Amino acid sequence: MQLPRYIAHRGLSAHAPENTLAAIQAAADAGCEWVELDVQCLGDGTPVIWHDASVDRCSDSQGKLLNMTRDQIGQLDVGSWFSPAFRGERMALLDEALSLVSALEMGLNLELKINTGHDPAALARTAVQRARQVLPLDRLLVSSFDMTALEAARSQDEALALGLLYEAVPRHWASDAERLRPTSVHADWTQLDQERLIEIQSAGLVMLCYTANDPERFASWWDHGVDGVFTDDPGLFDARYQRRTRGDGSRKPR
Ligand code: G3P
Ligand code: MG
Repeated sequence: MQLPRYIAHRGLSAHAPENTLAAIQAAADAGCEWVELDVQCLGDGTPVIWHDASVDRCSDSQGKLLNMTRDQIGQLDVGSWFSPAFRGERMALLDEALSLVSALEMGLNLELKINTGHDPAALARTAVQRARQVLPLDRLLVSSFDMTALEAARSQDEALALGLLYEAVPRHWASDAERLRPTSVHADWTQLDQERLIEIQSAGLVMLCYTANDPERFASWWDHGVDGVFTDDPGLFDARYQRRTRGDGSRKPR
């Protein structure tokens, strides 16, 4: 698997409403090769691309996802909160997002987002099955903060690329890695520790950081060898953000 140096976080979320089809399209239009999207299930089991437990922050309505059905979310405007230019944008179903990512020939980091009350294993099974029907193995990386979700994803597909997602990387990361056989470790860059970074890369894993939007403050981490970042706006870092990072940690021009 070749992962890029920059992954558009929740789509190109600096320029379009996060986690929407518009944000995926904007990322492609800006030249991004990969997007990160959050997936969770509605109360009726439909997987959708959404970050929060409720629709309060990013729609024209209120309520918990767990209390909503596919018909109900079809009525929401999830674009106007961001800008009038996106009025009428609808919450993306997982299937719609997968089709668009595939049509745009992009890669996808699908984050299994387990908010309170959601079933980790059920989400993993549904999301992995659907994603694998649409995307090839080298363009799909499934990650989660929730180890139960990652265990279910690994059981679902032995060959699937997994990302261990942490805030600060814990001491026991290696035992998680031994059990789950991930491709990458993803951590909050403001809590990154150089010792852990060395351990992770020495074990042959890719180190990705979220969510970096300040290139100057982040700069020293490139020198320490971080492989890539999730950012709301890759253009902040590099107008030519097509450099790739290989799964083995070496970099090569596109
Ligand atoms: O997957 C990286 C990052 O998206 C994790 O945090 O809260 O933005 O989903 P969050
Ligand atoms: Mg996320």
